[in-house]
Amino acid sequence: MRIRAAVITVSDKGYAGEREDISGPRLAAALREMGAEVLCEKVVPDLPEQISETIAKFADETGVDLIITTGGTGPAPRDCTPEATKAVIDREMPGIAEVLRFEGYKKTPFALLSRGIAGLRNRCLIVNLPGSPRAVSEGMEILGPILPHAVQMARGENLEHGRTDGE
Ligand code: MTE
Repeated sequence: MRIRAAVITVSDKGYAGEREDISGPRLAAALREMGAEVLCEKVVPDLPEQISETIAKFADETGVDLIITTGGTGPAPRDCTPEATKAVIDREMPGIAEVLRFEGYKKTPFALLSRGIAGLRNRCLIVNLPGSPRAVSEGMEILGPILPHAVQMARGENLEHGRTDGE
């Protein structure tokens, strides 16, 4: 099974060309490393309508199974990625966001400042990662082992448990 993925960088400065987007390309590279195909990459500003619209469009029109966003998850006034994501998902997957904070906290207490969520829009899995390149690398290390099975189940393809030892 090949995961078809999209990457969205949420950053006012990245969108305005005032800061190089390092996190988006790093996220795409980590996805390719785990064997995924990255079909779409986009930088959007911290505006809820644009974030929601981009997620919905990628999920509905491009055939991707997985959308990972980076940025806009913190407590700063313009951070609105979790709210914009929530507006376009139909089912939340809280465990993914919980483990990102829990495992992230072991690396830096600031991991708790991310309000990122994860959920499903129809058969597409959407995950919010924080904006820093380090958070992207750490997040992808945590997500790597669970993404293939999560995506397969979301597609409706493998509805059995994820273990291979029969347990
Ligand atoms: N999670 C991990 N694993 N590693 C990190 O370095 N940075 C934190 C947090 N999550 C971080 C992390 C910081 S400093 C912030 S402010 C929040 O993510 C939100 O970041 P964002 O607003 O760029 O999305």
